[in-house]
Formats: sequence, structure tokens, C-alpha cells
Amino acid sequence: MMKSVPVEELYMYRGQVVEDVMSATGALLLPRGGDLKTLLDSNPSVLQSLVQWGIKTVLINIPFDLSEDVFEKIVDSIHPRMRALEARIARGAIMQVEKVYRTISDNGSLGDGAYELARQASLLAEEVAKAPQIVHCLGRVRDIDEYTYIHSLNVGLLSGYLASRLKPGDREFVTTITYGGLLHDIGKALVSQEVLNKPGRLTVSEYEEMKRHSVLGHEIALNSGITDSRILVSVRNHHERWNGEGYPDGLEGASIPLYARIMAVADVFDALTSKRVYKGPSSSRDAVSMILESSDESFDRSIVRLLLLSVGLYPPGTVVELSDSSVGVVVGARDSDLLRPLVYINVDDRGRRAPDGIIVDLSQQEHLYVRRAHYDAGKGIHYT
Ligand SMILES: [Fe+2]
Repeated sequence: MMKSVPVEELYMYRGQVVEDVMSATGALLLPRGGDLKTLLDSNPSVLQSLVQWGIKTVLINIPFDLSEDVFEKIVDSIHPRMRALEARIARGAIMQVEKVYRTISDNGSLGDGAYELARQASLLAEEVAKAPQIVHCLGRVRDIDEYTYIHSLNVGLLSGYLASRLKPGDREFVTTITYGGLLHDIGKALVSQEVLNKPGRLTVSEYEEMKRHSVLGHEIALNSGITDSRILVSVRNHHERWNGEGYPDGLEGASIPLYARIMAVADVFDALTSKRVYKGPSSSRDAVSMILESSDESFDRSIVRLLLLSVGLYPPGTVVELSDSSVGVVVGARDSDLLRPLVYINVDDRGRRAPDGIIVDLSQQEHLYVRRAHYDAGKGIHYT
């Protein structure tokens, strides 16, 4: 966070000098990048020189110092159930998805994995119902090879979450779509790894092969005895687009089944926020913006609106500056007021680290609000 600090208050601040501060004769008073405290301690008379040369303010970069470990500990203390999801249920679901993919590669059907995966979906749906904001639950990929499995879990969680927003209390709907999310890309088990993990652009024929996964997945589901049309459309039609330019059936607008419309939004959001061999991850906020921009051509606007509400305006991990100049990191939000999140404050308005940090619930603090946000610090929880 950069702040223009009056010279007479400089001694109270911690941080780095942003640009060279020179006297009118060209003497360097404070060098760019210098640590303010060290500079003032080593040369106390510099404050006097600044005043003498008529310098009124100095631009200081006030550090925000919160490691990912500390961040996760704080989230843990606020939302202990999120950690339970990460440790136990998420890993169970990922392992099961992986097992199912291997079975498909071997014999073209899910085998008895279908039943176990449905059980995992029901456990996940229970967790989704408890989550105040979905970004907490989404894992980020450390190991590229694991991408498809973690992506399947994330799409299951996110589509389940969107479904729970669309029809609150309809547990069957949420469980079914979560199951659809776990299965949505099963056709990729039969697409070549070179095409799936190619770092550069796909050629026309490679892209055609990639696109086959939706129809292949549908066949695998049918071969596995899945007859529920809600699951079948989740697998076959999650790449349909609102303007009819998607695949494989070129369905358009409301003729795209609701399950597939929800899955499309969840799929693209997770793909954008994940790290792949060919791209870095986008922040949650950037991903929502990109989806919003293309929502007229590609997505059901009402589902995109639910995504915005689910991800929140200040996703956990967002560094925010509050109206009193203190700096903190968002650790959660209440459904009722996404503009006023819970913020862990660890730098006060003078850039000093608060000894243990405090958690401020902005929904309970009428006089405090978020003045600025830095979204590039968006984090997801890693499943390891
Ligand atoms: Fe897909």
C-alpha cells in the first residue's frame, strides 16, 4: 500500500521510500527503495533537511506482511469446517475421481466407481451447504498432472454451490449437480494426454479431438448404466454456449438444460482461476469479470449473477485498505453483506504490524468500510 506521508509524521511510519527525494540543489535526501526506519535512525537530521527544503510529503510503500501459512491458520480459526473439507472429504473425492478415470481408461466404463462417486457427491453437497463463500473450498493445482481430478472436484463444489443459491434447501438438486460436476469431464480419460496437456495452441485437429470428450463422456456414462438425464446433460452439454456456438449439439439459450448451464459457468470459472501448463491462474475477481464480459454470448446471465454473489466482491485472500488507512486481508464474508467482509488487520494505519492482528467484522462497524482492494493476492486452499 502506498501512502503519501507528511514529513512531520514520517518517524511514526514503517516502509520503503518509493521515489528519490532530492533537495533543490540535487542532493539526495532519501533514496528510492531505502528502508524508512533505517534511513531516519542513521541520519536523524534528515527530517530537518526535508523541512528546510520545503518538502511536505514523502511517498512510502507500507508493507503488507502475511504469509500464506498464517492466512490459512486464520481462516482455519474462523471456518474450521473448511479445513475438514480440505483434509478429509476433498482428498477422498479426488482419489475417487482418479480411480474412476483409471477404470475408464482400462475398460471404457466407470465400473463400480459410479456408486462410490455418488456417495462422495453427497458428502460434498453437505459441505457446500455449510460454506459461507465457495472460494474457500476451491483447491489450486500444485501438480499439473492432478489437474483434471482437482478440476472435477472444484466444478462439483462450485456447481453444487450455485445450485444451492438457485434453489435453497433443495438438497437433491445440489447433490445431483455435484455428482454431475465430478463426472463432467470423464470423456477426457479417453483423450490423449499430449492434447490435454499441450502447452501451446491446439491445432484444428487436436481441438477436434479435445472437443470429443463431451460425447465420449456421454457414451461412458451410458455404458456405466447412468440413466439420469440430469447427469447425462451435465457430461454431454457443459460446453454449449448461450449463443449456440458451443458443442457438441449447438444448443442455444434456454434450450440448454439448466444443469449444463450451471456446469458451464462453474467449469470456466475454475479453469480461469487454475494454473495450467500454458497459463498462470487468474484471480477470482478477474475470472468473474471475464465471465461477466462474455455472459451475453456464452452464459446464462442469471447463473453468472449467482457466481458473483457466491464468490463475493472481496474473495478471501484479498488485501484491502480500510477507510481508517489500516490494511488487512479478507478472511470471509456474511451472505447478507458482501460489501462488508471480515478482515484480519495486521498493519495499522501507520504501517506498523499489529502484535497478533485482530479480526474486524465490517458488518458490525458502521464507520469503517473498504476503501481499496488489491485482488492479485487471491488464494485458494491447496489440497495436499
Ligand atoms: Fe469439459
